[in-house]
Amino acid sequence: MPKLIVTLRDGEEREIEGAAGLSVMEIIRDAGIDEILALCGGCCSCATCHVHVDPEFAAKLPARSEDETDLLESSSSRDDYSRLSCQLPFDASLDGLKVRIAEED
Ligand code: FES
Repeated sequence: MPKLIVTLRDGEEREIEGAAGLSVMEIIRDAGIDEILALCGGCCSCATCHVHVDPEFAAKLPARSEDETDLLESSSSRDDYSRLSCQLPFDASLDGLKVRIAEED
């Protein structure tokens, strides 16, 4: 299975396997990492699944929707590589994707 590498807020790195068809948020949540709250369950309305993606992978990800952009604008820790992980479908082409869980707002 393709791998996802997640950096937690304390800097610890975890490598987890991700089933294709799930979102990056679902893979992180299913791995028991509770730093992603995902309060809205993945409907792009809460921004509690904010991650910073590795710049090397940014071009492989789908473009941000207007809703995603608006929600990210409300985050003080937003940067050019900020994404809502529920909006990132995971598949084999993203094997090795690195994401860092965003600071708490
Ligand atoms: S889980 Fe709410 S916006 Fe992603």
